[in-house]
Amino acid sequence: METCYCVSTILVVEKANSVASATEAVASAAETAATAAIDDDLPVYSREQVSWHANSESCWIVIDNLVYDVTEFLKQHPGGAEVLLENAGADCTEAFKDTGHSGAARQQLANYLVGRLPARKFTCSESIN
Ligand code: HEM
Repeated sequence: METCYCVSTILVVEKANSVASATEAVASAAETAATAAIDDDLPVYSREQVSWHANSESCWIVIDNLVYDVTEFLKQHPGGAEVLLENAGADCTEAFKDTGHSGAARQQLANYLVGRLPARKFTCSESIN
């Protein structure tokens, strides 16, 4: 009987975990859809153009293929200006996510959005596979 109890406890925990990850997946899909909706109207910048804005006079960063001008935010960033300047003109998607920014921090991104990277083009062989 004891064994039965353990097994059912494990099942309940697994069920709870899968519900949690399904909820996350839905939230993430909604976020992606919202991003896609605003993408079309945004100016498009190449990675090279972004790289021209790599100092405290003009500091652009890329997160998830979107381009942000964080020049005005340098002095306000709770994590300090230095980490932003280290990533100035570059893609810092991983650095931004690895820091575990809060939902409030992610929402603040919208204040600095200035454009997006060009849509990725798929070759024939990529789309077949
Ligand atoms: C526009 C872009 C960014 C915004 C709006 C932003 C916003 C914030 C905010 C609101 C916080 C306070 C903690 C929180 O609420 O999560 C924070 C902390 C921090 N951020 Fe950012 N951030 C940005 C970009 C970055 C980037 C690109 C990096 C790293 C390369 C970074 C590294 C950090 C660090 C190290 C902290 C301090 C964490 C701590 O002290 O625990 N941030 N950021």
